[in-house]
Amino acid sequence: MTYHDKNALKLSHEYLKAHINKDDITVDATMGRGRDTLLLCNLSKEVYAFDIQKEAPLSTKALLDENNCTNARLILDSHHNLKDYVQEAKCVVFNLGFLPGGDHTIFSHSDTSIKAIEASLDIIKEDGFVSICSYYGGDTGFEERDNLLKFLEHLDGKKYTVMLHSFLNRPNCPPLFIIIEKNH
Ligand SMILES: C[S@@+](CC[C@H](N)C(=O)[O-])C[C@H]1O[C@@H](n2cnc3c(N)ncnc32)[C@H](O)[C@@H]1O
Repeated sequence: MTYHDKNALKLSHEYLKAHINKDDITVDATMGRGRDTLLLCNLSKEVYAFDIQKEAPLSTKALLDENNCTNARLILDSHHNLKDYVQEAKCVVFNLGFLPGGDHTIFSHSDTSIKAIEASLDIIKEDGFVSICSYYGGDTGFEERDNLLKFLEHLDGKKYTVMLHSFLNRPNCPPLFIIIEKNH
Protein backbone atom coordinates (compact mmCIF):
# COMPACT_ATOMS: atom_id res chain seq x y z
CA MET A 1 0.00 0.00 0.00
CA THR A 2 1.26 3.50 -0.87
CA TYR A 3 0.12 6.90 0.41
CA HIS A 4 1.13 9.32 -2.38
CA ASP A 5 -2.00 8.44 -4.39
CA LYS A 6 -4.34 8.66 -1.37
CA ASN A 7 -6.28 11.30 0.54
CA ALA A 8 -8.44 11.17 3.68
CA LEU A 9 -11.57 10.14 1.75
CA LYS A 10 -9.81 7.36 -0.18
CA LEU A 11 -8.25 6.03 3.05
CA SER A 12 -11.66 6.05 4.74
CA HIS A 13 -13.29 4.21 1.83
CA GLU A 14 -10.56 1.57 1.85
CA TYR A 15 -11.08 1.08 5.58
CA LEU A 16 -14.87 0.77 5.13
CA LYS A 17 -14.46 -1.78 2.32
CA ALA A 18 -12.11 -3.87 4.45
CA HIS A 19 -14.28 -3.90 7.59
CA ILE A 20 -17.98 -3.87 6.62
CA ASN A 21 -19.93 -7.05 5.83
CA LYS A 22 -23.19 -7.46 3.91
CA ASP A 23 -25.13 -8.32 7.11
CA ASP A 24 -24.04 -5.13 8.94
CA ILE A 25 -26.15 -2.10 9.80
CA THR A 26 -24.22 1.13 9.17
CA VAL A 27 -24.71 4.86 9.76
CA ASP A 28 -23.71 7.80 7.56
CA ALA A 29 -23.72 10.73 10.02
CA THR A 30 -23.18 13.36 7.30
CA MET A 31 -25.16 12.36 4.19
CA GLY A 32 -24.40 15.41 1.99
CA ARG A 33 -24.65 14.42 -1.69
CA GLY A 34 -24.79 10.74 -0.73
CA ARG A 35 -21.47 9.40 -1.99
CA ASP A 36 -20.66 7.76 1.34
CA THR A 37 -24.28 6.62 1.73
CA LEU A 38 -24.04 4.90 -1.68
CA LEU A 39 -20.83 3.11 -0.71
CA LEU A 40 -22.39 2.00 2.60
CA CYS A 41 -25.52 0.77 0.75
CA ASN A 42 -23.32 -1.39 -1.46
CA LEU A 43 -21.29 -2.75 1.46
CA SER A 44 -23.95 -3.32 4.15
CA LYS A 45 -27.50 -4.55 4.75
CA GLU A 46 -29.08 -1.28 5.90
CA VAL A 47 -27.90 2.34 6.16
CA TYR A 48 -29.22 5.16 8.35
CA ALA A 49 -28.10 8.50 6.87
CA PHE A 50 -28.41 11.89 8.59
CA ASP A 51 -28.13 15.51 7.51
CA ILE A 52 -29.59 18.83 8.68
CA GLN A 53 -30.05 20.34 5.20
CA LYS A 54 -33.09 19.45 3.04
CA GLU A 55 -30.87 19.45 -0.06
CA ALA A 56 -28.94 16.42 1.25
CA PRO A 57 -31.72 13.77 1.21
CA LEU A 58 -32.93 15.12 -2.17
CA SER A 59 -29.50 14.72 -3.80
CA THR A 60 -28.85 11.44 -2.03
CA LYS A 61 -32.21 9.91 -3.01
CA ALA A 62 -31.50 10.77 -6.67
CA LEU A 63 -28.05 9.14 -6.47
CA LEU A 64 -29.41 6.03 -4.74
CA ASP A 65 -32.28 5.72 -7.26
CA GLU A 66 -29.81 5.94 -10.17
CA ASN A 67 -27.91 3.06 -8.59
CA ASN A 68 -31.00 1.00 -7.67
CA CYS A 69 -30.20 1.16 -3.96
CA THR A 70 -33.21 0.71 -1.68
CA ASN A 71 -31.55 -0.10 1.66
CA ALA A 72 -31.02 3.42 3.07
CA ARG A 73 -33.19 5.42 5.44
CA LEU A 74 -32.58 9.14 4.82
CA ILE A 75 -33.19 11.19 7.97
CA LEU A 76 -33.43 14.98 8.15
CA ASP A 77 -32.05 15.47 11.67
CA SER A 78 -28.79 16.28 13.41
CA HIS A 79 -26.40 13.39 13.90
CA HIS A 80 -26.29 14.00 17.66
CA ASN A 81 -29.85 12.57 17.77
CA LEU A 82 -28.88 9.33 16.05
CA LYS A 83 -29.83 7.16 19.05
CA ASP A 84 -33.47 8.18 18.48
CA TYR A 85 -33.34 6.18 15.21
CA VAL A 86 -30.77 3.37 15.53
CA GLN A 87 -29.89 1.20 18.51
CA GLU A 88 -26.90 -0.79 17.20
CA ALA A 89 -24.57 -0.49 14.20
CA LYS A 90 -21.26 -1.82 12.94
CA CYS A 91 -19.99 1.68 12.26
CA VAL A 92 -20.77 5.37 12.09
CA VAL A 93 -19.16 7.39 9.29
CA PHE A 94 -18.53 11.14 9.54
CA ASN A 95 -17.39 13.40 6.72
CA LEU A 96 -17.30 16.70 8.60
CA GLY A 97 -17.48 20.08 6.86
CA PHE A 98 -19.95 21.77 4.50
CA LEU A 99 -22.22 20.38 1.77
CA PRO A 100 -20.20 20.13 -1.48
CA GLY A 101 -21.71 22.63 -3.95
CA GLY A 102 -23.98 23.98 -1.20
CA ASP A 103 -24.08 26.85 1.31
CA HIS A 104 -20.58 27.16 2.81
CA THR A 105 -21.94 29.02 5.86
CA ILE A 106 -23.69 25.82 7.04
CA PHE A 107 -21.16 23.30 8.33
CA SER A 108 -20.61 20.85 11.15
CA HIS A 109 -19.59 22.21 14.58
CA SER A 110 -17.71 20.50 17.38
CA ASP A 111 -20.48 20.83 19.99
CA THR A 112 -22.85 18.61 17.99
CA SER A 113 -20.22 16.48 16.24
CA ILE A 114 -18.62 15.51 19.58
CA LYS A 115 -22.07 14.64 21.03
CA ALA A 116 -22.70 12.58 17.89
CA ILE A 117 -19.38 10.74 18.27
CA GLU A 118 -20.23 9.98 21.91
CA ALA A 119 -23.64 8.64 20.80
CA SER A 120 -21.88 6.58 18.09
CA LEU A 121 -19.56 4.97 20.63
CA ASP A 122 -22.67 3.94 22.62
CA ILE A 123 -24.27 2.16 19.64
CA ILE A 124 -21.35 0.52 17.83
CA LYS A 125 -20.98 -3.24 18.25
CA GLU A 126 -18.05 -4.88 20.08
CA ASP A 127 -16.08 -5.07 16.81
CA GLY A 128 -17.40 -1.71 15.65
CA PHE A 129 -15.71 1.55 14.68
CA VAL A 130 -16.25 5.24 13.96
CA SER A 131 -14.65 6.71 10.82
CA ILE A 132 -14.11 10.46 10.59
CA CYS A 133 -12.89 12.64 7.71
CA SER A 134 -12.35 16.14 9.04
CA TYR A 135 -12.28 19.03 6.56
CA TYR A 136 -11.02 22.20 8.24
CA GLY A 137 -9.59 25.62 7.41
CA GLY A 138 -11.09 27.90 4.74
CA ASP A 139 -14.72 28.83 5.40
CA THR A 140 -15.08 26.34 8.27
CA GLY A 141 -12.02 27.42 10.26
CA PHE A 142 -10.15 25.32 12.81
CA GLU A 143 -12.54 25.23 15.78
CA GLU A 144 -14.08 21.85 15.05
CA ARG A 145 -10.75 20.14 14.27
CA ASP A 146 -9.07 21.53 17.41
CA ASN A 147 -11.92 20.56 19.76
CA LEU A 148 -12.33 17.19 18.10
CA LEU A 149 -8.63 16.31 18.52
CA LYS A 150 -8.69 17.42 22.18
CA PHE A 151 -11.74 15.25 22.79
CA LEU A 152 -10.24 12.22 21.02
CA GLU A 153 -6.88 12.48 22.84
CA HIS A 154 -8.77 11.97 26.10
CA LEU A 155 -10.92 8.99 25.08
CA ASP A 156 -10.28 6.06 27.43
CA GLY A 157 -7.37 4.11 25.90
CA LYS A 158 -8.52 0.93 27.67
CA LYS A 159 -11.80 1.01 25.75
CA TYR A 160 -10.85 2.59 22.43
CA THR A 161 -7.97 2.89 19.97
CA VAL A 162 -7.84 6.20 18.12
CA MET A 163 -5.73 6.46 14.95
CA LEU A 164 -5.08 9.82 13.29
CA HIS A 165 -3.92 9.98 9.64
CA SER A 166 -2.59 13.36 8.56
CA PHE A 167 -0.84 14.32 5.28
CA LEU A 168 1.57 16.61 7.13
CA ASN A 169 3.45 18.18 4.20
CA ARG A 170 0.52 18.75 1.80
CA PRO A 171 -0.69 22.35 1.25
CA ASN A 172 -4.13 23.91 1.95
CA CYS A 173 -5.23 22.16 5.14
CA PRO A 174 -5.43 18.57 3.86
CA PRO A 175 -8.36 16.75 5.53
CA LEU A 176 -7.65 14.33 8.37
CA PHE A 177 -8.75 10.71 8.51
CA ILE A 178 -9.45 9.36 12.00
CA ILE A 179 -10.52 5.89 13.07
CA ILE A 180 -11.87 5.02 16.51
CA GLU A 181 -11.97 1.28 17.13
CA LYS A 182 -13.57 -0.38 20.12
CA ASN A 183 -10.95 -2.56 21.83
CA HIS A 184 -12.26 -6.14 22.05
C1 LIG B 1 -18.56 17.24 3.83
S1 LIG B 1 -20.32 17.14 3.75
C2 LIG B 1 -20.65 15.42 3.64
C3 LIG B 1 -20.35 14.84 2.30
C4 LIG B 1 -21.13 13.58 2.03
N1 LIG B 1 -20.75 12.48 2.88
C5 LIG B 1 -21.09 13.19 0.57
O1 LIG B 1 -20.74 12.05 0.28
O2 LIG B 1 -21.45 14.03 -0.26
C6 LIG B 1 -20.83 17.49 5.41
C7 LIG B 1 -22.32 17.42 5.60
O3 LIG B 1 -22.57 17.45 7.02
C8 LIG B 1 -23.82 18.05 7.21
N2 LIG B 1 -23.99 18.44 8.62
C9 LIG B 1 -23.52 19.54 9.26
N3 LIG B 1 -23.91 19.53 10.55
C10 LIG B 1 -24.64 18.38 10.72
C11 LIG B 1 -25.33 17.80 11.83
N4 LIG B 1 -25.34 18.39 13.03
N5 LIG B 1 -25.95 16.62 11.64
C12 LIG B 1 -25.95 16.00 10.43
N6 LIG B 1 -25.32 16.51 9.34
C13 LIG B 1 -24.68 17.69 9.49
C14 LIG B 1 -23.78 19.22 6.24
O4 LIG B 1 -25.08 19.69 5.99
C15 LIG B 1 -23.10 18.59 5.02
O5 LIG B 1 -24.05 18.12 4.10
